[in-house]
Amino acid sequence: MRLEDVKNMAVIGAGIMGHGIAQTFASGGYRVSLSDVNDTILNNAVNRIRGNLETFARNGFISQDEIGNTLSRITAIPDLQKAVCDADIVIEAVIEDIEVKRKLFNQLDTLCPSRTILASNSSSLLISDFASRTKRQDRVVLTHWINPPHIVPTVEIIKGDKTSDETADLIYALLKKVGKLPVRILKEIPGYLVNRIQLAMLREVWYLWEQGVATPEDIDLAVKGGFGFRLASIGPLLTNDLGGNDTNYRVAKYLFPLINDSHKPPLGLKKMVEAGELGAKTGKGFFDYSHEEWDRIIEQRDREFLQRLKALYRSQQS
Ligand SMILES: NC(=O)c1ccc[n+]([C@@H]2O[C@H](COP(=O)([O-])OP(=O)(O)OC[C@H]3O[C@@H](n4cnc5c(N)ncnc54)[C@H](O)[C@@H]3O)[C@@H](O)[C@H]2O)c1
Repeated sequence: MRLEDVKNMAVIGAGIMGHGIAQTFASGGYRVSLSDVNDTILNNAVNRIRGNLETFARNGFISQDEIGNTLSRITAIPDLQKAVCDADIVIEAVIEDIEVKRKLFNQLDTLCPSRTILASNSSSLLISDFASRTKRQDRVVLTHWINPPHIVPTVEIIKGDKTSDETADLIYALLKKVGKLPVRILKEIPGYLVNRIQLAMLREVWYLWEQGVATPEDIDLAVKGGFGFRLASIGPLLTNDLGGNDTNYRVAKYLFPLINDSHKPPLGLKKMVEAGELGAKTGKGFFDYSHEEWDRIIEQRDREFLQRLKALYRSQQS
């Protein structure tokens, strides 16, 4: 299949990730069928997309007209067969459960036309595991989007051991066309790039918090105003080169034996989970939240992310 042959997308799973992925392709001009086993989530997804598009319009990213045009390209379809029967590309964003995903890939292989490329948005699992449930292993690929997927530009592309270059190249071109910054992962490893790097940082963040080294507010501030400030512009390895690899080598030699290398998540985090302190969605995590505050935080987050996105596109064009 060539990029110009791609017309119809299907997104399976309309939760946190699925609705934003559907929005991205609809904004890029594609017809999108969105499906979920939960009717309430599926209906809410369309309202969430409308809300996201209104935030985009308020921030000058799209015109008011584009809200209606984009929504008109999205159809919520509960029935899986109807949702995928004419799809050129299907992206699944159902729960991170290996058995659910294996079963779904098997169903998709039966229900989709033979040309259809099947992609998974798993955040940790290996695509070869799902591809092996199909008779089209060359047309199965992993695309790992980052939350919120309609805003964060990076999408990791991971091939399974039988995924063809043609499939990976087409997905790369498609993601670029809808405004993403796709990254090719050269070896199929669990967690890929982004989650491995993020978890390595979080292991130390959680350890420092548990040890009472600083308040949660100050830990966030140190990252936002410190290395996080640099990372969004120049990434870790260019930062290394600018700081000097001799210095970084000496610092690593001294600090590596002293930083956390536990193979288990911290007990403090386990206790929070057991106490129902799951974060904003339950009103308490590292910080306290009321429902109105959550809405305000998301609105502010998206506004700031969109400003950063504008700056990123400007720097890419210059
Ligand atoms: N949340 C994140 O930050 C994030 C980031 C990157 C990748 N992911 C990955 O994206 C996927 C979805 O995560 P999410 O956060 O959107 O989860 P979510 O719980 O918000 O949404 C999952 C949706 O899948 C639906 N579902 C479950 N089984 C289904 C089936 N058989 N057919 C159709 N729909 C089904 C559920 O009803 C639910 O609406 C997971 O694989 C997750 O690991 C999540």
